[in-house]
Amino acid sequence: MTKSQTKNILLGITGGIAAYKSAELTRLLIKQGYSVRVCMTQAATQFITPLTLQALSTHPVHLDLLDTQAESAMGHIELARWADHILIAPCTADFIAKMAHGFADDLLSTVCLASNAPVNIAPAMNQQMWKHPAVQNNVQTLIANGVNIFEPAAGEQACGDIGVGRMLEPSEIIDRLAITETHSRQLAGVKLLITAGATREAIDPVRYLTNRSSGKMGYAIAQAAQQMGAEVTLISGIGCLPKPSGLTRISVESANDMYQAVLKQAENCDIFIATAAVADYSPVQQNTHKIKKTANHLQLELQKNPDILATVSQQFPNIFTVGFAAETDNLIQYARQKLTNKKLDMVAANWVGKDKGFDQTENALEVLWKDGQCSLPTMPKQQLAKELLYLVEKNYRNKDK
Ligand code: PMT
Repeated sequence: MTKSQTKNILLGITGGIAAYKSAELTRLLIKQGYSVRVCMTQAATQFITPLTLQALSTHPVHLDLLDTQAESAMGHIELARWADHILIAPCTADFIAKMAHGFADDLLSTVCLASNAPVNIAPAMNQQMWKHPAVQNNVQTLIANGVNIFEPAAGEQACGDIGVGRMLEPSEIIDRLAITETHSRQLAGVKLLITAGATREAIDPVRYLTNRSSGKMGYAIAQAAQQMGAEVTLISGIGCLPKPSGLTRISVESANDMYQAVLKQAENCDIFIATAAVADYSPVQQNTHKIKKTANHLQLELQKNPDILATVSQQFPNIFTVGFAAETDNLIQYARQKLTNKKLDMVAANWVGKDKGFDQTENALEVLWKDGQCSLPTMPKQQLAKELLYLVEKNYRNKDK
C-alpha cells in the first residue's frame, strides 16, 4: 500500500483473553500501511492496557462514548466517518449480540452503527459458546447485515477446552482483510443494472396478478455489488424493502414498466443481472372500474409480456447478461435452455416452490455459463450474492480474452 492509498482502519477490541493478540495485530496493520485508531470496550481494558495500544498505534485510544474531551477532538461521529474499515478483534459473544440487535450503549457499538465502512469481525470465545444457537443466530444476522466474519479457528483454548472458538492469528486476520479489500474493489468502475422483486399486472383499479418474490435476492445482489465498488442501478418491483444506501433505485409496477425502465438504463451499463420475477402474462384488458361480483364465472384473457432479459441480450450484445432461472423441476436442464435460448452469458438457477427461493432469507444457486458450472450451497442471500458476484466478475473479465 503506497502513501496515497493509505487506508484508515478502526480496530475495535472487546473483552476476551485474545485481546493480548491485538497488540501484534496493530503492529501488523501499520506495517501493511494502514493508519490505525484503536477503540476499546471497558472489558477489553481489563485484558490489555490502552497505553500499549496507544504506543503501538501512535494515537490516543478511544474509550468512552460520553467523554467531552474526546468528543471535542474526535467524537464518535467523526471516528465513524474517518474509518474506511472497521475490524473488531477479538469480538466477544456479547459484542456480537449487541451488534446483531443494534445496541449503542458504548463507543464501539455506537461507531459501528454510525459508520458505513465495511465491518469485519474476528470472533473469539469458548467453543461451547460459539456453538450456541443464540450466538449462531446473531452471527447469521450480522452476515445478513453485510458484516464479514473471520471465523474462529479450532484448537486448544485458554479455558482448557478443545474446539472451534480461538481467534485467528493476527497474520491470518491480515490475510483475510486483504481478501476482503480486494473484493471491495473488484467491481470498481463497472456499471451494473439489476432487476429485483415481483411485478404487478393490474386487472382493475384494486386487483392485480403477481408472484411470491420479495426482492430479497435482487436487493442482496445490488447491495453486494455496491460494496464491491460497482455503480449500481436497481430497478425494483413494488415491495417494502428499504433502499440500500449508495445506489440508484427506480421503482416500477408492471412488467411493461420494468421493460421500459430497463431499456432506458441499459445503454449505460456493463452488466445486467435479471433477478426479478417478471410476470410472463398480463390481462389483455385492464378495467377502469372495479369488476363487480355478479357473474358466477369470470374469465381473464392474458397476453404474453415482453421478455426483458432476452431483449437486452439481443439489443445490447456488448452487455454481459446474467439471468436467473426459477424452477420446480429439471433445474439444470431448463436453466441451460434459458442460457442458450436467451443468448445469455450466465444463468443462476434456483429451486422454487414450498419453502424454497421465494421470500426465504437463504437460498442456493447452480450457476451455469457456456463451458462451466458451479454450485453455491444454501447460505444467507447476502452471502450468496457475494459468491455469485465473484463468479460474475471472473466470467465478465474473461469474456473478451
Ligand atoms: O425475491 P426473492 O423472494 O428473494 O426470491 C428470489 C427469486 C426466487 C425470485 C430469484 O432468485 C429468481 O429466481 N428470480 C427469477 C425469477 C423468474 O422469473 O425466473 P424465470 O425462470 O421465470 O425467468 C428467467 C429469467 O428471465 C429471469 O432472469 C427473469 O428475470 C427474466 N424474465 C422473465 C420474464 C420476462 N418477461 N422478462 C424477464 O426478464
